[in-house]
Amino acid sequence: MSEKPSPEILKFPEGFLWGVGTSAYQVEGGSTNSQWYEFEKAGGIRTGEPSGRACNWWEDAERDFDLAQAMGINSLRLSVSWARIEPEEGVFDPTAIEHYRSMLAGLLERNIRPMVCLHHFANPVWFEKKGAFLSKDCVIDFTRFIKFTIAELSDLCSYWLTFNEPNVYAVTGYLDGEHPPALRGHITDYLNVLVNMALCHAKAYHTIHRLQEDAMVSFSNHFIIFTEAKSQLVDRLAARIASDFFNNVFVNMVAGRKAPPFTALNRYLEQVKDTWDFVGVNIYGGVDVAFDITKPGMGFVKRLTPKNRRTGDLTPEGQAMFGEIYPQGIRIVVEKLARYNKPFFILESGVPDRADILRRWVIATAVKTMHDLIGRGYRILGYHHWTLVDNFEWAWGYALRFGLVEMDPATQARQPRPSAAFYADIIKENGLTPDMLRKYAPDALHEIFPSSI
Ligand code: BGC
Repeated sequence: MSEKPSPEILKFPEGFLWGVGTSAYQVEGGSTNSQWYEFEKAGGIRTGEPSGRACNWWEDAERDFDLAQAMGINSLRLSVSWARIEPEEGVFDPTAIEHYRSMLAGLLERNIRPMVCLHHFANPVWFEKKGAFLSKDCVIDFTRFIKFTIAELSDLCSYWLTFNEPNVYAVTGYLDGEHPPALRGHITDYLNVLVNMALCHAKAYHTIHRLQEDAMVSFSNHFIIFTEAKSQLVDRLAARIASDFFNNVFVNMVAGRKAPPFTALNRYLEQVKDTWDFVGVNIYGGVDVAFDITKPGMGFVKRLTPKNRRTGDLTPEGQAMFGEIYPQGIRIVVEKLARYNKPFFILESGVPDRADILRRWVIATAVKTMHDLIGRGYRILGYHHWTLVDNFEWAWGYALRFGLVEMDPATQARQPRPSAAFYADIIKENGLTPDMLRKYAPDALHEIFPSSI
């Protein structure tokens, strides 16, 4: 009698990094020197909630490092606060750097490799007042901060991200007004911010490599899977505009392919070319898009999320923040960007899901998708789930919960969600067992993928 072969565990390569992502302003608390603090005071948070103590990392990050260690996490993406390190223009605070040194040492002691992002949405107030990335001094200012920070921290970290999601920073600050400086429809500013950030990034890339030869340096880019709402030409055009001006605009500059229209970057494209050592992918969802003549400030693009899609929790105003939650989209992004011949890190993937209904499906589907890709020869070196512990979700305050661990901002009490144990099991197996797949990724194999990014 022939026995049925038992289905195998989908194993990952040895040394694969299983991580989580965080950012300074969202977890540290008490970041009073940042433009986000000013934004909070001016009523910019839709729920009216201040960031307050956030996850209290400035006083006690080790509490959550212990949780990460207990889950087996071996890579933690965090950011440093420029506002703390350089609280006044040209004046550095040695105590802030000392603080970050002890955080990084705390991670290394737990066998967790840090990946440090140097800018995650938050600016020092003095820099914001100068116009932030529209200021003529932005490259000088950003480079000064980079030089100081890398010189102080490079013995403790070798993975650096210059920027988190320049595309989101520019859209939310200058097109849809959700983040400071809360401008709407400022398309020229939007493009110039991106161009200046690309120049800052390139200078930072070379500066870091000069100070630390074997550093791995890149940035993270947010990708949304845009699909035309109807198969009509104008909607296809809208999907194309959305992809080009959101997903691809920064990548195209850093890859040295093209500069956005009506900007000065063409002259400098050579300086920016190939300033990345890996592709950093942040991906949550997909939206349908339609051409909308009434939206010139958004490039004539209207985003739609048809009912019956998996969205995660809605915002208090009833919006699906990332459209349809779409971890399968990792495949589309990796296949498309493989042309640059760089290894990939998935740096954010997750879902707002207070009741922890969808999260295990998101994790299992992301992991299955990565496994398929690795099997087909794509180099994916690590996965970072967003996020470890519920944290300050920018303009949505504490309304949206992305944590593997639930956190009550009033009491600081932590309670791991079932997803935390699930992720820990994946890490322990270094892969997905048939049982996990059966339970949590039933449709990962059969999905029909939309075509456009
Ligand atoms: C940002 C994070 C944010 C997450 C969830 C990402 O675009 O980098 O800071 O918390 O999305 O909204």
